[in-house]
Amino acid sequence: MNEIKNKFKTSIAGFQLHNYLFNASGPRCMTLEELIALGESRSSVILSKSCTLLPREGNPEPRYFDLPLGSINSMGLPNLGYKKYVEFAPLLRRYNKPYFVSVSGLSLADNITMISELSEVPEIDAFELNLSCPNVIGKPQIGYDFEQTKQVLDEVMKITKKPFGVKLPPYFDFVHFEEMAKILNKHNIAFVTCINSIGNGLFVDADTEKAVIKPKGGFGGLGGEYVKPTALANVKKFYELLRKDIAIIGVGGIASGMDAFEFLLCGASAVQIATAYQKEGTAVFARIEKEFIEFLEKKEYNSLSEAKGKLKIYE
Ligand code: SIN
Repeated sequence: MNEIKNKFKTSIAGFQLHNYLFNASGPRCMTLEELIALGESRSSVILSKSCTLLPREGNPEPRYFDLPLGSINSMGLPNLGYKKYVEFAPLLRRYNKPYFVSVSGLSLADNITMISELSEVPEIDAFELNLSCPNVIGKPQIGYDFEQTKQVLDEVMKITKKPFGVKLPPYFDFVHFEEMAKILNKHNIAFVTCINSIGNGLFVDADTEKAVIKPKGGFGGLGGEYVKPTALANVKKFYELLRKDIAIIGVGGIASGMDAFEFLLCGASAVQIATAYQKEGTAVFARIEKEFIEFLEKKEYNSLSEAKGKLKIYE
């Protein structure tokens, strides 16, 4: 089995990953205990919850709700503050897998402060700059503001030598894909993670006649099966438009090995698991890894590159 697993390894930002999947910066990656559990699981990277300069409680509860085909959340970036994710770094070394820190400053100055400091920590391997949280009240998603995105990336590139990626919101219009790709291609980015949740959905409980979450009048980010077609489209489009040295990480509705394979066909170099991880806990990584490998074997693939980006379309 190890020989088979070896055939399907991947790499992101120059790091060899022992398999194709890891956690999204979303559920169950905020505390040291949760990061240790990821270290002990089959997640191939330990990725932290998006951090801010200071610790945050996040939005009032209820702020997460499981839905029949996914989830809705308005967590509001609860996290322990970036200094904790620095402090945890040496403790996570023993798991022999990369540790990535997700950064979501509430201002450009916050991002600069955090990234400058994170860049000096040898046990932090890379960071993912979150430009797409839809749930911070009064803070629009930076990824929908192209001028601001360009400015943030210009500044970040000046202050770090560590590999980094950006986590993007979903786009829905070809002009927006092209505009964003043009900006990303001009920066020294190692990976792009698409997509964050589809922002500001509203789920209504007809029995109680109430929205299912409290913050923002019930508006929150949709995840899970609802968003998979949008996530696949974003991966495919950015795979077409970005420089080939920028890896694409797919996230959105991956709950089975077959889902992971669909993202591979669209060009993803790895995938992240969010809603399914929230629902199943760390066992989800071994389950999806097993299903993914069995699926590739059944189709007689010998490497990920044989299928990567090879989605067939009608002539
Ligand atoms: C949140 O904490 O609100 C979710 C994280 C994100 O959407 O980036």
